[in-house]
Amino acid sequence: MSAAAESAAPAGSLLEVQDVQAYYGLAHVLQGVSLTVRPGELVALLGRNGAGKTTTVKSIMGLVSVRGGHIRCAGRDFVGLPTESVAQFGIGYVPEDRRMFPGLTVRENFRLAALGSRLPKAEQQAAQRRALDVFPLLEPHLDRDASRLSGGQQQMVAVGRALICGQKLLLVDEVTQGLAPNIASDMGRTLRRVADGGLGVLLVEQNSQMALELADRVYVLDQGVVVHSGDARELRADPTWMEQYLQL
Ligand SMILES: Nc1ncnc2c1ncn2[C@@H]1O[C@H](COP(=O)(O)OP(=O)(O)OP(=O)(O)O)[C@@H](O)[C@H]1O
Ligand SMILES: [Mg+2]
Repeated sequence: MSAAAESAAPAGSLLEVQDVQAYYGLAHVLQGVSLTVRPGELVALLGRNGAGKTTTVKSIMGLVSVRGGHIRCAGRDFVGLPTESVAQFGIGYVPEDRRMFPGLTVRENFRLAALGSRLPKAEQQAAQRRALDVFPLLEPHLDRDASRLSGGQQQMVAVGRALICGQKLLLVDEVTQGLAPNIASDMGRTLRRVADGGLGVLLVEQNSQMALELADRVYVLDQGVVVHSGDARELRADPTWMEQYLQL
């Protein structure tokens, strides 16, 4: 499907990014990005270094200056809302650099995420339990300093925190970077299961092959514009676009 054909939001969109224009100072980085994510869908956002993937995710989170377009979750436009308020839409964010505060245990990381989630107190405990159900390997490490865990375990904590805040939608930026291939595959499969459980997942991923295997739909960014998009099954059948847009 061409980028232009994607302009109308499909029915049932959880997230709708429409014609977003984002800037760093005077630099006009996103020049009309549009994409959608539905509940239960894993959508991959691909593109070369500097294409604007992180800026897209940061725009959704209110972390960069958006000066045009719309970002809607469940139909409500939230462009211009501060990052703290984005949590009220049930959006969880795994940033590009996994930030573990030194000295905080895994349990404390999860508790802080629950406190920031805007969930009613009674539901905060259950949200932490669900994150542990997704990552049972963290259970024996709950009282360890999260900053001293392995890279793969730290990413589990980062995604776990996002799951606690993100009851509806996860934005995941380069979560497999620096991980051994088998650990990266495990994380990918876990995110697929999370989507199968009903959440929308927007996955920024350098490993395009893996992303294509996992995703339902794919968007390719280049220089702040969606240059290609479509159904992952169709894109897998004819991967010539990869050479064109990703230099693979
Ligand atoms: N804080 C910033 N200030 C100014 N320009 C920035 C800033 N962050 C990113 N840029 C620029 O914006 C453009 C898009 O960057 P972005 O980080 O969104 O790319 P990306 O697709 O995530 O790349 P990568 O694959 O390397 O993570 C690039 O030209 C980059 O140099
Ligand atoms: Mg990036």
